[in-house]
Amino acid sequence: MGVATLQEARTASTAERPRTGQTARLVLDGKTYELPIVVGTENEKAIDTSQLRAETGYITLDNGFGNTGACQSRITFIDGEKGILRYRGIPIEELAEKSTFTETAHLIMYGELPTKTQLERFSKRLNCSSLIHEDMLHFFTGFPKDAHPMAILTTVVASLSAFYPVPEQLDEPAEEQVIANLMSQIRTIAAFSYKKSIGEPIVYPSNKLRFVENFLTMMFSSPVKDYHLDPDIVRAVDVFFLLHADHEQNCSTSTVRLAGSSLGNIYAVVSAGICALWGKLHGGANQEVVNMLQYIRRNGCSPEEFVARAKDKKERLMGFGHRVYRTFDPRARIIKQICHKLLNKRGVSDPCFDIALKLEEIALKDDYFLSRHLYPNVDFYSGLILKAAGFPTNMFTVLFAIGRMPGWLAQWREMHHDPGFKIARPRQIYQGPTLRHYVPVSERV
Ligand code: ACO
Repeated sequence: MGVATLQEARTASTAERPRTGQTARLVLDGKTYELPIVVGTENEKAIDTSQLRAETGYITLDNGFGNTGACQSRITFIDGEKGILRYRGIPIEELAEKSTFTETAHLIMYGELPTKTQLERFSKRLNCSSLIHEDMLHFFTGFPKDAHPMAILTTVVASLSAFYPVPEQLDEPAEEQVIANLMSQIRTIAAFSYKKSIGEPIVYPSNKLRFVENFLTMMFSSPVKDYHLDPDIVRAVDVFFLLHADHEQNCSTSTVRLAGSSLGNIYAVVSAGICALWGKLHGGANQEVVNMLQYIRRNGCSPEEFVARAKDKKERLMGFGHRVYRTFDPRARIIKQICHKLLNKRGVSDPCFDIALKLEEIALKDDYFLSRHLYPNVDFYSGLILKAAGFPTNMFTVLFAIGRMPGWLAQWREMHHDPGFKIARPRQIYQGPTLRHYVPVSERV
């Protein structure tokens, strides 16, 4: 049996990646190996195990990838212990206060806040890319009326590959166009799927409107009724998108990187990310939070009882807990404030908001949640904003997908521009039967 110990040691740097010259010393089966240490710009440290199997015959095993760095990235920094989130170095709080989704999308994608000219060009390109091929409208009539909009979104986004073929060699202009298509068309597809679900005619996008205004108008106007754009709602939805724009190597983004690493078609690759997002432990949680709050409200179950059920593992307190944050998710703080402001300004009292506040208050005094570092995450209050803006609950995760699109695309782009790019292919430790032989059916008992 091998005995492994890891010690830090100093040796010369050996490789092409940014390294410190430090190594970790691994003692395995009586042999010593030096594993390079990689340090990020925010002093996060990793042991580079990329040569581990080749040198030792061992692999690392890390259920749920809690300790595995799958890439080195320049896009988003999270310090989960301190509750810090920055896009390209800029704190999320500053962006939420001063920026817009479109500007932030440019920052995430291309690394810098755009100049005025760049922003105008980017916005114009998004506007000019908002229509989807007219033949795609047939798809929307083919789905059952009660189809979940996420089911429609995944399918129609993947189908864009049939209507907008991607050249084999993606040069910069082609890449820019693909990025604009996905960012802009997902919004159109989302609104069309909603219109289909309520049996209303679709409303086409308009180049006269800005990103969020355009989306809200496609969603809520009809041929017989104009939609009044409320600046508070426009800003709330814009900030909602901005707060979701990237979150480093989460489940859906890792899916995009994994699927994209096979050089798959970008529309299909993003569709895979949307599928991963849909699950209720990830982006689907925003819908589940509001379902949970409504359940508590309608079934006369007190918040105290619900928290007790969560502690007994009969329920999950949806919108609580996070793999990376061991304290408040900074996005949750911002969203809670927006929710407060929006409801106050509109003079709306939402009993679900009161239940959410109560659940948070109880949980944050309870040792079960404190000892496990379970705090509200981005989904805890976000659904209430969307509810106040008039979105039905089954559209919440669709809105998350619209917001996350810049992140998926930026991570996909970064991966393909990385000189060390290779197909992602994890290994496993096989625990099944050892060699045995085929038994004919007549001899099986
Ligand atoms: N309610 C009650 N208990 C919880 C919760 C919760 N929301 N989340 C975690 N726990 C408990 C687990 O039961 C476990 O308890 P144990 O140590 O007694 O076994 C412990 O806390 C650790 O939980 P894990 O599931 O191991 O934590 P992990 O990091 O794997 O999961 C996750 C993180 C999926 C977010 C989890 O906290 C969860 O299910 N939360 C609710 C769903 C949710 O809000 N998801 C959105 C996440 S944010 C996003 O994706 C945008």
